[in-house]
Amino acid sequence: MEGKKKLINPQKGLNGELHVPGDKSISHRAVMFGSVAEGITVIHNFLMGEDCLSTIECFRKLGVDIQVSDGEVIVSGGGWNHLKEPQDILDVGNSGTTTRLIMGILAGRPFHSILIGDDSIAKRPMKRVTEPLKEFGTKIDGRSEGNYTPLSIRGGDLKGITYTLPVASAQVKSALLLAGLQAEGTTEIQEPEKTRNHTEKMIIEFGGHIERHGDTIKVKGGQVLKGTEVYVPGDISSAAFFMVAAAIVPNSRVLLKNVGLNETRVGIVEVMKKMGASIEIMESSKSGEPIGDILVESSNLTGIEIGGELIPSLIDEIPVIALLASQARGRTIIKDAEELKVKETNRIDAIVQELGHLGADIQGTEDGMIIQGKTPLHGGEVHSWGDHRIGMTLAVASLITDSDVYLEGADAVNISYPTFFEHINKLLQK
Ligand code: S3P
Repeated sequence: MEGKKKLINPQKGLNGELHVPGDKSISHRAVMFGSVAEGITVIHNFLMGEDCLSTIECFRKLGVDIQVSDGEVIVSGGGWNHLKEPQDILDVGNSGTTTRLIMGILAGRPFHSILIGDDSIAKRPMKRVTEPLKEFGTKIDGRSEGNYTPLSIRGGDLKGITYTLPVASAQVKSALLLAGLQAEGTTEIQEPEKTRNHTEKMIIEFGGHIERHGDTIKVKGGQVLKGTEVYVPGDISSAAFFMVAAAIVPNSRVLLKNVGLNETRVGIVEVMKKMGASIEIMESSKSGEPIGDILVESSNLTGIEIGGELIPSLIDEIPVIALLASQARGRTIIKDAEELKVKETNRIDAIVQELGHLGADIQGTEDGMIIQGKTPLHGGEVHSWGDHRIGMTLAVASLITDSDVYLEGADAVNISYPTFFEHINKLLQK
């Protein structure tokens, strides 16, 4: 981890337009589906962040030819049966999405693989995936009875299952759908709350078939997928940092171009509107993954309550929403978000502690946090906790502090947004 980074403490607003990098969730899935599909998959606007590069490396070790050039990734898939037993351990780095989704693929492959990741991955719960995968008939184990990496998988013939997800998690749902695509018979998954549906959309884009009735998703086994062209929209979870920055920094006007507006991901837009932010959405394409532009200007904000089924649609944006709430008049309550404790770090503890250091009135609860606004923020030394979204939230906070902020562990942003600091500078130069 690099040393302290002095953040910018501007005296003016953020202005101009940005193309944020490609969506992380969709980039991972495009490589995975391209690898198990037959034929060539070309991925445009792929996110060249460390997490997605971990996914590419894992599939190369499984024998897939993947070429990277100029923001484009070309995957030469040979179908499910062309994946080969890896000679080496598969290193997932910091990526929970890689770990959980690849397990669903490996579960049905007749060979042995071992998954390992960094110190953060080693603490993240995997039983939520290993338990249902065992029900499909695969052999899978890891530390603490299959709950933690290193994980060992010996895949084989699978039988479809009927399963109710105990937690609203798109990663778990996706792992089970990937296993279900290879299993004998039908797999039925029930979700307690709607989670991001990129996997379901991608099954269709790759020529597969999937059905949804209410909260139940059904997929038939033995499906052959066909390579295709994937256009990855800008990541709304990355755009979120600039949406909040524009709203809280005086004299700002920022236009975010070609951002993914999938209905399962736009919780932050609803929250900002409810808080009274000046935000305008201009949807340009509705087919497949909806895309559009987002315009945000400096705003007068009011605190609100955030919870229930909205949470999965903004789970990754909660750190930056906490910052937004610190600049809103009145109280904001975030609840039903205990999943934050098992993200790249415990994001309730991390954000409460670090924003607290800068002067925010923020208190952690069992399932979220309570923020009282509006409080002026001051400078100081803060830490990313090695978590990209905590690091970027603190960098946005530094734009409104009355003196300098030093951020330790700033290189964590490379996980999902390698050009983040460049983009802040670009908007400050207008
Ligand atoms: C993701 C789903 C979410 C999210 C993560 C990416 C995905 O996790 O927090 O950053 O790509 O499916 P859960 O599904 O476990 O909540």
